[in-house]
Amino acid sequence: MKRIEDIDLKNKRVIIRVDYNVPLDDKLNIIDDNRIRESLKTINYCLDNNCSIILLSHLGKVKEEKDKQTKSLKVVAERLSKLLNKDVIFVKEARGKLVDEAVSNIKNKDIILLENTRFLDLEGKLESGCDEELSKYWANLADIFINDAFGTCHRAHASNVGIAKYSKEKCLGFLVLKELDNLKLVTDNPKKPFTVILGGAKVSDKIGVIENLITKADSILIGGAMAYTFLKAQGNEIGDSLVDMDSLEFAKNMLKKTNKIILPIDHVVANDLNSNNAIKNKIEKGEIGLDIGPKTIELFKNYIENSKTVFWNGPMGYYENKNYEKGTKAICEIISRLNIISIVGGGDSASCVINMGYKDRFTHVSTGGGASLELLEGKELPGIEVMN
Ligand code: 3PG
Repeated sequence: MKRIEDIDLKNKRVIIRVDYNVPLDDKLNIIDDNRIRESLKTINYCLDNNCSIILLSHLGKVKEEKDKQTKSLKVVAERLSKLLNKDVIFVKEARGKLVDEAVSNIKNKDIILLENTRFLDLEGKLESGCDEELSKYWANLADIFINDAFGTCHRAHASNVGIAKYSKEKCLGFLVLKELDNLKLVTDNPKKPFTVILGGAKVSDKIGVIENLITKADSILIGGAMAYTFLKAQGNEIGDSLVDMDSLEFAKNMLKKTNKIILPIDHVVANDLNSNNAIKNKIEKGEIGLDIGPKTIELFKNYIENSKTVFWNGPMGYYENKNYEKGTKAICEIISRLNIISIVGGGDSASCVINMGYKDRFTHVSTGGGASLELLEGKELPGIEVMN
């Protein structure tokens, strides 16, 4: 598998798959531009090598024509241009006459960003179905294909897997290399004690990780809404808290099989999101658990402080509301004071770490939620495998 530094890029035309699937608000403002910032190293390296650059990315899922209004990469082109302090040519389609024209006029050090690759899903799932013709079309636009979209590596789509099959030359970009190097710290013989912290709402998203890590990890601390499914599986009252009913059996079996799973011992509860909250050891009928409580923070702290490696995926509570962000913030705070290997596996917990200002205190904050979870499940990522 070639790395970007292994290839002579001087004066070449490169096509880079980046992951600019960034969160946007109702007014289409970018809420978090971390993924754009993380792509700059590879882009700047290509600019230093006098390359002409074509960028490919998806943004969200595109299922119907009207999605095009809210899923355009135009705002990303503007942000990228600001971050690079350089013009970025935005092409309003991902394939066709406008692309051909822009590419035939491209000069060294020019950067073109094509429109959302998933707009082509409206023409019969060409992108997500890994259409061969489309893959060849993108591969033929440049001399070299660079995969720098770690967040998309668990997908086998035309713009990452298909294009790689038909490119004359291909390599991994700096972001993908950094992600793989850092995630190895938890997938390949992690330094022990190894603690996994899981949160978020759905147990089903984490089943593969729990199954794969239950033997490798020393403890699995579970917070967030996931915890209520496990607490219910133990026979506890959880009031109106969120439960992933489909995963209840799995939770019961896991609790029977192992004593490595550590659950919250107190909670921040409320009757609804607008009423006052209270800290309680037990959730009562009519109450909703919305965050881990102070005793749980202390309990989790002991496990984290005794670890040499920590992997974290999923917030500890309903952090979107300031009243329920304490648990998630506390985990950031505890880890930030320690000199251990600390890896955050993308998604909401990565956004929390970044937005709460702790990114630099972690060993690595992944840009890929789904991709890093699949690596932790022990799976091969198609977007990486194809680069061999
Ligand atoms: C992500 O945000 O996890 C990646 O960009 C992949 O997006 P997807 O889940 O829509 O394929």
